[in-house]
Amino acid sequence: PESFPVTVAIDGPAGSGKSSVSKQAARVLGYGFLDTGAAYRALAWRVLERGDDTAEADAVVRALDGFDYAISLDPDDHWVRVGDVFVTDDIREPRVSAAVSGVARVPEVRERVNVLFRALVAASGSAGVIVEGRDITTVVFPDAPVRILLTASPEVRAARRSAELTGEDAAAVAEALHRRDASDSKVVDFLTAAPGVVVVDSTELDFDRTVDAVIDVVRTATGEN
Ligand code: DC
Repeated sequence: PESFPVTVAIDGPAGSGKSSVSKQAARVLGYGFLDTGAAYRALAWRVLERGDDTAEADAVVRALDGFDYAISLDPDDHWVRVGDVFVTDDIREPRVSAAVSGVARVPEVRERVNVLFRALVAASGSAGVIVEGRDITTVVFPDAPVRILLTASPEVRAARRSAELTGEDAAAVAEALHRRDASDSKVVDFLTAAPGVVVVDSTELDFDRTVDAVIDVVRTATGEN
């Protein structure tokens, strides 16, 4: 049997640049890329589609029943599917972002998706996979050979997020980001590095230099140059 892919675990808060940085680093390294937040978003989308409330844990657990979730690990061909519906863009809508914390705080949900994440990495067929989320370095892949916490100051994160969401009020974006971080950090602590986790602080780095910093950590840890 093929060996388990080199797993690169990357955690960090919203707006740290985690997704875009991880995706680009995966391209350069020839690795797969797994956005774990997409699974929580897809389940939140399903709860909303059913007309249920993501603040109700029972409704969220019911939505797990028959939750047929698939995601591409190819950094050049990203898609997310629930049942027959491709929800790649829908899961980024503000209504899903506002609802997703309720889904992510349900323990049954976390257990279910974590099993899925490990299976997706195992079956990826690639030399390595960059797995990005909030609890990847601590819960999902605590034994990964490469573990990184990607941070940035709250001001820089809010500014990056509002640059992504054109047309939205910057103060409102900062407020929504802050509210989601506060809610999310009750579930998992993604602002402190666990022992052995390398911190990459992107506050003063542009996108390309952040990607380079992540790739450096990977190459150092895997002994590649
Ligand atoms: O990274 P993101 O914004 O797409 O994540 C969506 C939500 O899912 C976020 O509110 C926190 C949650 N999440 C989590 O609890 N654990 C993960 N590993 C990834 C995301």
